[in-house]
Parts: sequence; C-alpha cells; structure tokens
Amino acid sequence: MSQIGQPNSPIKPPQHVAIIMDGNGRWAKKRGLPRLAGHKAGTENLRRIISASVEFGVQYLTIYAFSTENWGRPRDEVDGLMRIVEDVIEKELNELDEQGVQLRHLGKLDQLSLNLQKKVLAAVDRTRNNSRLVLNIAFNYGGRDEIIHAIRQILVDGIKPEDVSPELVSHYLYTAGIPDPDLIIRTSGELRISNFLIWQGAYSEWYVTPTYWPDFGKNELRKALDEYANRDRRYGKVDSSEYEGSHV
Ligand code: FPP
Repeated sequence: MSQIGQPNSPIKPPQHVAIIMDGNGRWAKKRGLPRLAGHKAGTENLRRIISASVEFGVQYLTIYAFSTENWGRPRDEVDGLMRIVEDVIEKELNELDEQGVQLRHLGKLDQLSLNLQKKVLAAVDRTRNNSRLVLNIAFNYGGRDEIIHAIRQILVDGIKPEDVSPELVSHYLYTAGIPDPDLIIRTSGELRISNFLIWQGAYSEWYVTPTYWPDFGKNELRKALDEYANRDRRYGKVDSSEYEGSHV
C-alpha cells in the first residue's frame, strides 16, 4: 500500500496538521528524570517533526507549546519552558529559515518577558516570506481567550450583528488567513481538546496515540497521515450516493 512520503506516493497529505504535544512529563518520569528533561526531549522531537512535515508536503503545522493555563505549573517548569523557547529561537532560527519555514505566533505576546517578545517578533519578521511550511507556535494560547479577543475586536470595530458570519469570526482569530486544521494529533492518549483551536477544529479529524510526544517520530507522523488519508470527511453532510433507495 502507498504511504505518504514514499517515492511516487499518490497520497495527498493534509494541508494543515495541528499537534497537542502531550506526555513530556510522563516520558521523563518513566526514566526517573525531571520534567524539564521531558520538555527538552520534546523539543528535540519537534525538530524531527518539522523536517518530516516539510518532507511529507504538509503546508501548515500548528503546535501547542504553552497554554494560557500552563502558568499554573511550578515556577521552575514555567521558567524552563520560556528558556527553551528562547534557546530554540536563538539556535534553530537559521536552519528553520534555510528550510523555508515561516514562523507565526498564536496567542498573547504581552505576558511574556520583553526579551522573549522581541525575539518572537524578530523571528516572525525574518521568516515572513518563507513558504515551504508555515509553523504556527501556539504559545500563551487558549481557544477561549482567542475567541474573547476576537469578540472584543469585532465590537471595537463596530461590526453590525447581521454582518457576523463564520468567515468574519475566523478573520478576527489569531489564525486569520490560515486554513482550518484538517488533522489534529494528540500524543499520550488523553481524550480532551484542552482549549486548543476550539473554533478552527470544528470539523478537524482527530488522531490520538498513546505514544508520548518525545517518542512520536517521523514514522508515527507518517502513520497518522496515512490514517487521515483513509478518512471520509463529510462535514455533517451525507454523500449523495447514500440517498439511493432510501425513500421512506
Ligand atoms: C505537554 O506535556 C507539553 C507541554 C505543556 C510543553 C510542550 C513544549 C515543548 C515540547 C517545548 C518546545 C516548544 C517550542 C516552541 C520550542 P506535559 O508536560 O503536560 O506532559 P504530562 O501530561 O506527561 O505531564
């Protein structure tokens, strides 16, 4: 059977893949390591998954790196995650740029340190013309927060109630201009949406695997994309062929 990413693969990858990178803490605990070691291993894996996404022809990759609720974690862990992101921007930006990756940030920037804000804005600006893969980093992101932010802006802009449509709301989200995710992957087996892309994911296909994020490598991604290729997306409708002979 053909597989995504194999030579002459006829299978079309999903245009937009979003990932809840869960299980770093449990991955570390299983090895008797501190939680931050899990986040570091998760960051290493992210590099593999970005390259694999480019290779498989995914055009948009959205990753959930820090939620608006993650501030409630121990101070050490929060500080560690902030440092990891700063480090990644510092050390990986050249390579991401060379790979043709365009970086975008989803979420509230103003609660981050000034230094991190500057680095994020500079990375977004530097890669803005890249088009091989758009990498959306949801950092200090929450779906409800995003919708509240959009409603406030819609009111500020004086939009008339009758002009509010799904397209208009989408235009006011952090993901404006980005197609909705076709596939949302969640690692580590939890069956929750966790405030991730709650508007954009209305008709996304889900793929949940028990594998912890640091172990979710290229072959696991291929498996998820292959499974997606066999899904029948109906968006709440019924295929016209199913009407045949169904007169009651
Ligand atoms: C969830 O695992 C993971 C996170 C909250 C952080 C994910 C962040 C990274 C992988 C860092 C890389 C990000 C960038 C943008 C460079 P968990 O800690 O909730 O795991 P657990 O449920 O097993 O405790």
